[in-house]
Amino acid sequence: MGFNMGFEFSKKSIDKIKETLLKYPEKEASLLPVLHIAQDEFLYISQDVINLVALTLDIHPSRVKEVATFYTMYNKKPVGKYHIQLCRNISCSLRGSSNIKEQLEKILNIKAGETTSDGKFTLSTVECLGACGTAPVMQINDKYYENLTTDSLKTILDSLS
Ligand code: FES
Repeated sequence: MGFNMGFEFSKKSIDKIKETLLKYPEKEASLLPVLHIAQDEFLYISQDVINLVALTLDIHPSRVKEVATFYTMYNKKPVGKYHIQLCRNISCSLRGSSNIKEQLEKILNIKAGETTSDGKFTLSTVECLGACGTAPVMQINDKYYENLTTDSLKTILDSLS
């Protein structure tokens, strides 16, 4: 199956995984949090990461891949230092998320799905982020930005170094 033997979790991630495993009755049930730990360390879920997670949890790589592919919160390709995930679902679109998207594309000079040439920003559109009451919403790495207006975007992006 072509494992990359030099590819391993850091000690910090291994400790987190051990802690996570204690919370679940079966290893497979911890797949989502373990994928999070993997993404925190490796930034995106490559085939090497899939194999490593499979090996760690003793489940088949195809199962890991299936789950990682299903959820948009897992990056399947490299992303920039700041990953902007703009909600495109109903509440956000009713409150102007397409204008926000256009404005972001203009400021960053990329289209949704792309990364700026300096590797700083990736722009993605995603399904509901669970903050519909404060639509439109985007998430940049772990932080939420709510009640967005086209005017607020430049300030938000400028605040990220
Ligand atoms: S629809 Fe955008 S956060 Fe729910």
